[in-house]
Amino acid sequence: MRVVVTRRIPEAGLQVLERAGIEYRIWPGELPPSREELIEFARGADGLLTLLTERIDEALLNALPTVKVVSNMAVGFDNIDVDACTRRGVVVCITPDVLTETTADFTWALMLAVARRVCEAAESVRAGTWRTWEPLGFLGRDLSGATLGIVGFGRIGRAVARRARGFDMRVLYTDKTRQSSEVERDLRATFVPLEQLLAESDIVTLHVPLTPETRKLIGARELALMKPRSILINTARGPVVDTEALVRALRTGHLWGAGLDVTDPEPLPADHPLLQCPNVIVTPHIASASETTRARMAELAAENLVAALQNRRPPRSLNW
Ligand code: DGY
Repeated sequence: MRVVVTRRIPEAGLQVLERAGIEYRIWPGELPPSREELIEFARGADGLLTLLTERIDEALLNALPTVKVVSNMAVGFDNIDVDACTRRGVVVCITPDVLTETTADFTWALMLAVARRVCEAAESVRAGTWRTWEPLGFLGRDLSGATLGIVGFGRIGRAVARRARGFDMRVLYTDKTRQSSEVERDLRATFVPLEQLLAESDIVTLHVPLTPETRKLIGARELALMKPRSILINTARGPVVDTEALVRALRTGHLWGAGLDVTDPEPLPADHPLLQCPNVIVTPHIASASETTRARMAELAAENLVAALQNRRPPRSLNW
C-alpha cells in the first residue's frame, strides 16, 4: 500500500501510517502541489491524505485511477466532490469532533478581540503611538449580557453557545433543523429564523459548512438586516459571506467590525479593501490550529486512511 500525504503534517499522523506498515510520500513543498504536480506525485498511490487546499474532483480521480481512499485532514469537505468519489467507489473520510472545542475557543478569541479592539490597541502600543491612559481610548463593546446569534448549530456552533453561558449572553440560533428542547434548555439557546437572528444579535457568528445553499448566505441583504453596529465573525468558510457586500457594510459603519478566520478569496491579497478596514481582524485560517488538535486531526486522518485501505470501516467516513 502506498499513500501520498499532500503536505507535512504532525508526526502523530505519520506514526499511525508507520505502525500500519503503510509506505507514504509527503509532498515536500511548503505550498500545496498544483493539480499537475499532485497527479505526477501521486501516480500509482492507493490513498491520499489531503488538506482543504486540494481540489478532489472527477478530473483528478480520472487521472489517479488507483486511488481508493481520500482522507481529508479537516472537518470541512467542500474541496472534495464526494458524489464523484462515491460513484467510483473511492472512500472519503474527514476529521470531525477532534477540532470542535479548539475551533469554538478561537471563535471566542475573535469575538473578544473585535469587540474589545484588542489588535488595534496592541498595535498602537507596538507603534509607540499610545501615550497615556485615556478615558475615551479604544472603547469597545461588551460581550457580557449581549445577544449572540449563531448561524449553524452543529458541533462547533453548540460549543460556541456553551461558552456563551459564562458571559450571560442571550443566545439565538438558526439551522436547518431545530435542536431538542433539552439541548435548547441546556445551552439557553432560542431557535429563530435567520432574519430575526440578524436583526436582534449584537454578534453574529457563522458555523455552517460551505454548500451550494450556504454560498453567499450572508450577502448585502443579510448584512443590511444585521443590527447597526453589530459584529460578524466567520470561522466557517470564506464564501459563506459576500466579501464585497461585507466591505461596503464595514465602510458605511453599519457594522462595528468583523473577525474573519476564513475569507473569499483565501488568502486575501495584501491590498484588499477588507484589510484597510480598521476594526477587522483577519487571521490565516487557524481556528483549529492548536498543537494538540492538529496532532489529533492528523492521527484521525491517518486512522481513517489505514482502516479504509485495510477494508475496515473508517472511524469517520462520509460514504463507507
Ligand atoms: C476544517 O477542519 O474544515 C477547518 O477549516 C480546518 O481545521
